[in-house]
Amino acid sequence: MSLFDKAAKDWDSKPHRVETARKVGEAILSSVPVSKGWRVLDFGAGTGLLTFFIAPHVSEIVALDNSKGMIEVLKEKIDKFGANNVKPFLGSYSDFQFELSFDLIVSSMSVHHVKDVGELFRWFSSNLKKRGYVAVADLLKEDGTFHSDNTGVYHFGFDREEFESYMVSSGIEPVSFNIVHSIKKNGREYPIFLSVGQKV
Ligand SMILES: C[S@@+](CC[C@H](N)C(=O)[O-])C[C@H]1O[C@@H](n2cnc3c(N)ncnc32)[C@H](O)[C@@H]1O
Repeated sequence: MSLFDKAAKDWDSKPHRVETARKVGEAILSSVPVSKGWRVLDFGAGTGLLTFFIAPHVSEIVALDNSKGMIEVLKEKIDKFGANNVKPFLGSYSDFQFELSFDLIVSSMSVHHVKDVGELFRWFSSNLKKRGYVAVADLLKEDGTFHSDNTGVYHFGFDREEFESYMVSSGIEPVSFNIVHSIKKNGREYPIFLSVGQKV
């Protein structure tokens, strides 16, 4: 059982997680021309905090996560909310290929848990339609104190240059990079960025 499987049942009880997903969701809706007909993917969807925020604005949203516990909670929420346009997928990104099918790929607080971010962005690009968008939120570079346990944490946040270089190398043009939220923890602030790019 992974750390995320164990955390899944109580994941939504932490107000800072709900607040972060809301802030990131609002920032995505104001920086990307999201349309009702769009097909979207949420990478590292967890219990769907961001997924369910975006779902009413689009045609379909695939919620992809490799934690069984997280996907179980997400499925319970689909039934509870009657959110029929949310499609759960259990597995790592590299287990699936959706072939140029998404108008938008979103993600919040998940990319720092992926070892090979260059590979992840190439996967994003290969599953995006031409001119499709990525909108990824994560921690700005930090000193390793954000998580109480750094198991499964491969990056202590990212700076703009590094993040946009992953986009450029995978054929995605950087569009904007903004600080959209700040998480207060351990008596300090951890800024959260939203990086938007468009496939060329
Ligand atoms: C910090 S949680 C964020 C969850 C959610 N986006 C939120 O903001 O509440 C990171 C999530 O990424 C998922 N994850 C990490 N590596 C993954 C991978 N290779 N493929 C799919 N999901 C992954 C974890 O299982 C976990 O649910």
